[in-house]
Amino acid sequence: MTDLWWKSAVVYQIYPRSFADADGDGMGDLRGIIEHLDHLAGLGVDVLWLSPIYPSPQDDNGYDISDYQNIEPIFGTLEIFDELLAGAHARGMKLIMDLVVNHSSDEHPWFADSRSSASSDKRDWYWWRPAREGMEPGTPGAEPTNWGSAFGGSAWEYDEKTGEYYLHLFSKKQPDLNWENDEVRSAVYEMMNWWLDRGVDGFRMDVINMISKDTSLPDGRLTAGSSYGDGSPAYINGPRIHEFLQEMHAKVFAGRDAMLTVGEMPGVTVDEAKLFTDPARGEVDMVFQFDHVWADRGDDPWLLVPLQLTKLKAIFNRWQTGLAEVGWNSLYWNNHDQPRAVSRYGDDSPQHRVASAKMIGTVLHLHRGTPYIYQGEELGMTNFPFRTIADFRDIEALGHYAQAVDREGRTPEEVLTVLRARGRDNARTPMQWDASANAGFTTGTPWLAANPNYPEINAAAQHDDPDSVYHYYRQLIELRHNEPAVVEGDFTMLLPNDEQLYAFTRRLNATELLVIGNFSGHEVTAEIDGWSDAELLLSNLPAPSGLTLAPWQAVVYRRTV
Ligand code: GLC
Repeated sequence: MTDLWWKSAVVYQIYPRSFADADGDGMGDLRGIIEHLDHLAGLGVDVLWLSPIYPSPQDDNGYDISDYQNIEPIFGTLEIFDELLAGAHARGMKLIMDLVVNHSSDEHPWFADSRSSASSDKRDWYWWRPAREGMEPGTPGAEPTNWGSAFGGSAWEYDEKTGEYYLHLFSKKQPDLNWENDEVRSAVYEMMNWWLDRGVDGFRMDVINMISKDTSLPDGRLTAGSSYGDGSPAYINGPRIHEFLQEMHAKVFAGRDAMLTVGEMPGVTVDEAKLFTDPARGEVDMVFQFDHVWADRGDDPWLLVPLQLTKLKAIFNRWQTGLAEVGWNSLYWNNHDQPRAVSRYGDDSPQHRVASAKMIGTVLHLHRGTPYIYQGEELGMTNFPFRTIADFRDIEALGHYAQAVDREGRTPEEVLTVLRARGRDNARTPMQWDASANAGFTTGTPWLAANPNYPEINAAAQHDDPDSVYHYYRQLIELRHNEPAVVEGDFTMLLPNDEQLYAFTRRLNATELLVIGNFSGHEVTAEIDGWSDAELLLSNLPAPSGLTLAPWQAVVYRRTV
């Protein structure tokens, strides 16, 4: 059995493009990260996860890789990367890379070769298919299946050169690799070993539960109002997914110490996650599930469904209890694909922003699992005030907008309303370092505008303020490091039907913790007995009298039982 060190770890995600720009070209870079390592070490995080930094045409901001064994020149060089790795290690932090191998860039030499001729050695490295039977190749509706891509439009691109289509579940510049092919898998494992031999400590694996496809590629179900079928039953947790991950584990991770692997798995169920994360099976250490970030999503993607706390709690409870005996949870509110947590789950108004950012942080970090912090979350950064579609840069936002407005007849305003609340660019605005121009992110023109609230919300101001969100997150991390009940304690959800309070206990041997978060702008009293003599370990606001919590208050109590 491997060492499960990551159970007490906290991971910090860096989106390099938006973190810190040292050379003034408007894009973040590795030198910028090096210059801010003390901000991260000061927070106390154990692991840094870097979103992709490999050479890439940047169609999907680096999730389209054209060379897996080098560094994108915008970000730096392999030498600077080694310096960053050494700098992280010197401060006691590990570093994991993003592994994007469901697809490559269409500019990767593998794909260039594959597309060059139907008899190319690498033809079978990607999913090539002829037009639908009886249809003229390249005409509307002739695509091999009715699948839509995640970013709008068909999941198939016609390629005139050979008269066939290739599959791309994401953009047409992200062709899907064919994991059925042994050479593809060997090439990926070799590349992973190369990075680990260089000193990196593991991988976050992009949409890794999509690598195995039902090779018959069946058409997907058509839902009302959408122009494409849902192909996901054929590629989410596909037939060979466990076999592939076990093979990867054996060829890459077996025999290596102190690694961390986390698989991003849209649509994963608790039962599947148990299999993926059972250490005895040798697949991955933990997965990113999506149930809680899809809780405010309806069948109609262009309707905002208000978040219901009871629903959110039921989801967390299912995952906490489901993985209590076997496997492990990862915990996150935020990443580069989600809107800002304080704007979504808290209240980002000046009156409640700080308290609610701390409250949602408390609730998340006190669950059982490994918490992930996304850059800026530790400052309580908020969503961006987007005005028009021209303010967005994200390929997903632009693709969905085009499909919804141009093809499906939605009004720009209804689509924009949803993009403002949910769009991924909310998370991608520059990290707010200080009150100087462009939030201190760049001396040049930032690739995406800084949030205009940076003069108030920035790291420099918070480093000096013991009451800041930054210092509160530091305490949350410290609590995990020092209190074993936070790491290992059993989880019990309380008040499941309460729409305002999120309450649960954690119990390890004689130590019991009580965590309560008030997800409302009102004072609320928690009806929970037996805690009047307990020790208050943490609160984001002045200590409450009894269990009457102020708006957005969070408390953590400890007692011996
Ligand atoms: C993952 C990434 C996302 C990317 C997609 C395709 O969901 O997190 O940013 O667009 O995969 O690689």
